[in-house]
Amino acid sequence: MSAPVLTAVAWPYANGPRHIGHVSGFGVPSDVFSRYMRMSGHRVLMVSGTDEHGTPISVQAEKEGLSTRELADKYNRVIAEDLQGLGLSYDLFTRTTTGNHYQVVQELFLSLWRNGYVVPKTEMGAISPSTGRTLPDRYIEGTCPICGYDGARGDQCDNCGNQLDPIDLKNPRSRINGETPKFVETEHLFLDLSRFTESLGSWLQTRTEWRPNVLKFSQNLLDDLRPRAITRDLDWGVPIPLDGWREQPMKRFYVWFDAVIGYLSASVEWARRSGDDDAWKEFWTGDAQGYYFMGKDNIVFHSLIWPSLLLGQNGAGDRGGQAGSFGTLNLPTEVVSSEFLTMSGSKFSTSRGTVIYVTDFLRQFGPDALRYFISVAGPENQDTDFTWDEFVRRTNFELANEWGNLVNRSISMAHKNVGAVPAPTAPTAADQELLELSRKAFDTVGGHLRRSRFKAASSEAMRVVSAANRYLSDQEPWKLKDDPARRDTVLHTALQVVQDANTLLTPFLPHSAQKVHELLGGTGVWSAQPRITEVTDLDVPEREYPVLTGDYAGEQARWASTPIEVGRPLDKPTPLFAKLDPELAETGPEWAPIVR
Ligand code: MF3
Ligand code: ZN
Repeated sequence: MSAPVLTAVAWPYANGPRHIGHVSGFGVPSDVFSRYMRMSGHRVLMVSGTDEHGTPISVQAEKEGLSTRELADKYNRVIAEDLQGLGLSYDLFTRTTTGNHYQVVQELFLSLWRNGYVVPKTEMGAISPSTGRTLPDRYIEGTCPICGYDGARGDQCDNCGNQLDPIDLKNPRSRINGETPKFVETEHLFLDLSRFTESLGSWLQTRTEWRPNVLKFSQNLLDDLRPRAITRDLDWGVPIPLDGWREQPMKRFYVWFDAVIGYLSASVEWARRSGDDDAWKEFWTGDAQGYYFMGKDNIVFHSLIWPSLLLGQNGAGDRGGQAGSFGTLNLPTEVVSSEFLTMSGSKFSTSRGTVIYVTDFLRQFGPDALRYFISVAGPENQDTDFTWDEFVRRTNFELANEWGNLVNRSISMAHKNVGAVPAPTAPTAADQELLELSRKAFDTVGGHLRRSRFKAASSEAMRVVSAANRYLSDQEPWKLKDDPARRDTVLHTALQVVQDANTLLTPFLPHSAQKVHELLGGTGVWSAQPRITEVTDLDVPEREYPVLTGDYAGEQARWASTPIEVGRPLDKPTPLFAKLDPELAETGPEWAPIVR
């Protein structure tokens, strides 16, 4: 039996619709990976949800004149729709404001507390002199005391990756109104990261398969692990389950503390909804593997903080302890991080740059073109600028001309000449060579996908498509009217390779893969899609919310070459991908025009 796989996908903040940069970091890669894993026989649990606490939510709520809960409700739904539109096959996409999440966070915290990994400490907290209100770390900006970078934030420096305290910043200023914060005493709970130096260090040494930049970045931070505050002076977040803290309206867990625990709480919620409360354990213990997908600004939380919380819960940090009520939980098998997709060519401007929203993109171009672009040309190893020019080229030349055309001409010819999948007779060396190439691609492409090398995987899959197009040009079946036996052999070979290539491309292009399956005469679900269902909170019955979920076990797609069935009737095919107007490369769409 293959090991069960947990796909843990970073939780988007419920503070706005998703843009294509977001989904190229956490979204598409995690889904391509999960689909491949399911196809190769693994049981997969893919979980995430919207991240709904903390200052990113309060600040946006204030801007929109909504309460924090109203804002979270609004964008939880918008984001669930964005992700469903892309065909991201979550088993459960939930949210962090559920009763279940609150319970799991508090329970996990109590294990850390009992094992002595959390300590209270009084520190200096920033307040805004003009309003008297707490100024959250993230909203203080200044010069990094370590590397001198001027855009460092109160919680961390994005330039050198070090965690910071706002009081250490040189020349601190409020990002909200530019004023200089005032610092006053306040008590907080700290996760004592220094108590994980040994245990994290020896675990990281076993992570030899990680992308080298992620591993090095994490190992470098090991030298300076300091206690890190896990509470904030805020009224929006999970309450702290300790006497003297529980009652305080302005003490809550820090959003990052509760969010990473979401991987566990979402798994527990999924289990509870499945009717077997313990079903999550299969994906968290024993030989289960856990793969975490995110953008690079999230690495430290997944490679150090979350593993520390797990070690502390397990009683396996440097000061030992007892496993908590969740038993002994697995640490991440791999932290897969992407670089950033930038959008400099478009005029839609927010504080963070230019924005191309997923929902607009899907409305005009459909999901698979974007999924393909992100897989083959996305920011896997370096920051990458999205350009309409490259999007048009990839879509027109690779999806439409190469893949769409191969599907179309193979099926059209078979339909016209035979009306069904023709029977082969004596195969030639050329036939065998092509079939061999496409059979072998399952190992090559699968090997890349297992290691989250999406560019290499999609390029290798497309090599099969190109080889099949070359084969058809060489064999010229349209000239074989007088030799129907040979013509049928060529068409049979081509259709077999279309089916193989469709299987190889299914993780990237699940929507068009379903269509090709049907064009080849198949019925039923080849690649399953997520759906949105309205559910009642399991613990707070007056609350309802949408979740993304799906029934993926029933899909037919398997990671193997399966012989195409001779005699299966074939209809005249309809085009797979529409070609884009080349002018789009010059102008951009009207909702995100290129400015020159
Ligand atoms: N909301 C965070 C962001 O968008 C990501 C949280 S990932 C989690 O950067 F693991 F903490 F949930
Ligand atoms: Zn720095």
